[in-house]
Amino acid sequence: MIEKPHAPDEQEISELPRRSFVARGLAFVIGGIITLCPIAVSVIYFLDPIQRKKKAVGMTGDAVDPEGFVRVAPKEALADDGTPRSFKVIADLQDYWNKFPNAEIGSVYMRLDGNGEVQCFNARCPHLGCTVKYNSNDANYACPCHDSAFSLDGERTNEIPPRGMDSLETRVDEDGMIWVKYLKFRAGIEEKKPV
Ligand code: FES
Repeated sequence: MIEKPHAPDEQEISELPRRSFVARGLAFVIGGIITLCPIAVSVIYFLDPIQRKKKAVGMTGDAVDPEGFVRVAPKEALADDGTPRSFKVIADLQDYWNKFPNAEIGSVYMRLDGNGEVQCFNARCPHLGCTVKYNSNDANYACPCHDSAFSLDGERTNEIPPRGMDSLETRVDEDGMIWVKYLKFRAGIEEKKPV
């Protein structure tokens, strides 16, 4: 039997605004999700390389060996009298997305010690990270930022820096080229801790 249409009773009339409110709320939520999802995906997509770059930059190229030593300069470039010389450390940097050829990753001081062995220091001041300068007048290293001072052997000569200059491992290949295991260390602490 077909039910005849009838005028809404009082209860149905009172439910009408509530139903329409719930329907509008649901439409708003679903619409928001549909609109925001692509935006969220786009933001993640564009930020992802930045995140990966922070985590995954590594050194590549001919100037870097598998153990992380970077080719820096020929040993003959060092003075026989033990005077230090500053060198830039150059390598190709690579992350998942980009390559940065010939990037300057830091600088070092190298000199020959009394036995003709290469001595190498990271030029970053262990106090707060400024670049230390070689002072030829006093034959020592000094930092222009807060006056840290170091002997030619990298020992601190005042109490400003928390430790001496950070020495770096080197090796000399058969062609007389010096390779440096370039690392940076945390500034401001006594311990020599790689970052
Ligand atoms: S950063 Fe070198 S003395 Fe402070």
